[in-house]
Amino acid sequence: MIRLENIEKVYRTDTVETLAVNGISLDIARGEFLSIMGPSGCGKSTLLNIIGLLDSPSKGVVNIDDKDISGFSDQQLAGFRNHTLGFIFQSYHLINDLQVLDNVELPLLYRQASAKERRELAQEALGKVGLHNRMKHFPSQLSGGQRQRVAIARAIVGKPKIILADEPTGNLDSAMGNGIMDILIHLNKNDGTTIVMVTHDEQMAHKTHRLVRLFDGSQVL
Ligand SMILES: Nc1ncnc2c1ncn2[C@@H]1O[C@H](COP(=O)(O)OP(=O)(O)O)[C@@H](O)[C@H]1O
Ligand SMILES: [Mg+2]
Repeated sequence: MIRLENIEKVYRTDTVETLAVNGISLDIARGEFLSIMGPSGCGKSTLLNIIGLLDSPSKGVVNIDDKDISGFSDQQLAGFRNHTLGFIFQSYHLINDLQVLDNVELPLLYRQASAKERRELAQEALGKVGLHNRMKHFPSQLSGGQRQRVAIARAIVGKPKIILADEPTGNLDSAMGNGIMDILIHLNKNDGTTIVMVTHDEQMAHKTHRLVRLFDGSQVL
């Protein structure tokens, strides 16, 4: 489902050159749940953003869903991202002055879906994360765990094949974190969604199929 060949990412500022990702090759199968661990600054988010087509590598080949995306225009990339990938972040990234239902509908605005269809899909996604009774709430009226569940609903509303999660339980206590993890495991098992998750939590990582460890931009065994 995801193939990375010899990925390098160099960030340059006026004074510093950082090799954030240093020659990573990775094959992630359809339906796999992979976790990525490693110390702060080792390149986890950079790698996830490259897989998510939010950032481009300095070198190497990225294949997502059997497509080499190197020839894609920006518009093609945006469409492909919208249909294939769902993102979840540590700090939820919800829009505070939109109600839960409207937050979840957002990714569908970029598609040709009717208002009715958008609403139904958003309700379905919120049902999957157990939040059907919070649709008219604003994010500020929810707990951290509930906000992250809204973010998951937003990530899955378009039925993506792949979910990318960057420390999704990083801001949550362990009970809420376990709730989020249970939802991700369920999405992986029941819907066959491929998931790549960055985490600092060994316990969470051990619930996934495979763990990749990074250090200074490279994979360690
Ligand atoms: N936009 C950027 N510009 C310059 N350096 C960056 C940028 N993003 C990340 N880096 C550097 O790349 C390295 C890896 O960062 P990151 O992928 O965020 O690590 P992690 O998610 O593992 O904490 C760090 O040294 C960081 O400072
Ligand atoms: Mg990070």
